Amino acid sequence: MNILMIGSGGREHALVKKLLESPKCTKLYCAPGNGGISRDAEIIDINVMDKHGMVEFAKKNSIDLAFVAPDDPLADGMVDAFEDAGIRAFGPNAKAAVIEASKVFSKNLMKKYNIPTAKYEVFDNAEKAIQYVKAENTTPVVVKADGLALGKGVIIAQTIDEAVAAIKSIMEDKKFGDSGNNIVIEEFLTGPEVSVLAFTDGKCVKPMVSSKDHKRAYDNDEGLNTGGMGTISPNPYYTDEIAQVCMDTIFKPTIDAMNKEGRPFKGCLYFGLMLTPNGPKVIEYNARFGDPEAQVVLPRLKTDLVDICEAVIDEKLSDIDIEWYDGAAACVVMASGGYPLAYKKGIEIFGLDDNGQIDGAVVYHAGTKYEDGKFYTNGGRVLGVTARAGSLDEALQKAYAAVDKIRFDGAHFRKDIGKTK
Ligand code: AMP
Ligand code: GLY
Repeated sequence: MNILMIGSGGREHALVKKLLESPKCTKLYCAPGNGGISRDAEIIDINVMDKHGMVEFAKKNSIDLAFVAPDDPLADGMVDAFEDAGIRAFGPNAKAAVIEASKVFSKNLMKKYNIPTAKYEVFDNAEKAIQYVKAENTTPVVVKADGLALGKGVIIAQTIDEAVAAIKSIMEDKKFGDSGNNIVIEEFLTGPEVSVLAFTDGKCVKPMVSSKDHKRAYDNDEGLNTGGMGTISPNPYYTDEIAQVCMDTIFKPTIDAMNKEGRPFKGCLYFGLMLTPNGPKVIEYNARFGDPEAQVVLPRLKTDLVDICEAVIDEKLSDIDIEWYDGAAACVVMASGGYPLAYKKGIEIFGLDDNGQIDGAVVYHAGTKYEDGKFYTNGGRVLGVTARAGSLDEALQKAYAAVDKIRFDGAHFRKDIGKTK
């Protein structure tokens, strides 16, 4: 099969490496890809939002399967564009991808179908939102832009003044553009967070092994929120018993709710959960694999990913058994100095070959470019240094041993992945 991966991050590199394991994959392209991906697949210079360009490329190159990995092109209907052209594509269509693209939609869906989530109100007017937070007078309070905001549209305000400032920056100063035309103000929840990615064909839902992201920039969960500084799988807090509760109260009800709304979801649905003292609740849905969750979940997948994609597209997911490797995986993100704020690009990366000495380690490239035989930084999150092993401790030890071999000026990474709540 000729396969086209769409996207350019660490998640896409992990997907590319997994697809290459499939005996069915004869030719793999990635658009636009990155430096690391260019060593594994043929990279094609098409903008990630260019639906027309992607479809034309797919037609010319007899693509049998297109895999749309990032949120923006999914929300913008890239899967619809492939389907209209008769090309098989993995991922939700735009109608279903709205579960991530609009928090107002997802919150209202959960309320309507009794899916456990934080209590909330929706506002389209800054004055009213400010009156509400002042009247409620409870902190912390969570302020969320409705639309996609590069993972930055959530502000946990510790004081009423901070909440007012957040509302003004989103609704009046348009910090996230039109994503902030509407906002959700919600109750602050506590408890361990769990990421559960699930394959679904719109009828059947098959959760993958669980994982845990570390979103803050620095050790001990300090510093700004990032796209994710590291992950482990499985999530130690996610017991079989909790998994069953999630299946019954969250996963199946969500799939059914999307069907009832005439928006059947096909692809990978990401459940961002919080295990609160009152049971598991949904923090957010994503319409795609998480990044860097994919980097620890996919290495544990034993079943051919191409077979799973086909089963999802053909709505035959209930027919296949999805198998996983026991043990654990850990991913440590090496980021550019300054990230998630301003950072430099184009810094040479050393030691990428040496980490091959560490058994079980693999380096997924997120923000790199490859020129004249050398790798350079090209983004905030640069590398996802990952290892799979028999236990979490061993996976962490191997991932950090691989990190030790790699260096670039300004590199920063968390030293406590897998150690915090
Ligand atoms: P999101 O962009 O929706 O993933 O939110 C980013 C992070 O904000 C989440 O991973 C949580 O840590 C935190 N968060 C979001 N909503 C809430 C909430 N209602 N209560 C507590 N923390 C939250
Ligand atoms: N790691 C969080 C996300 O992919 O949204």
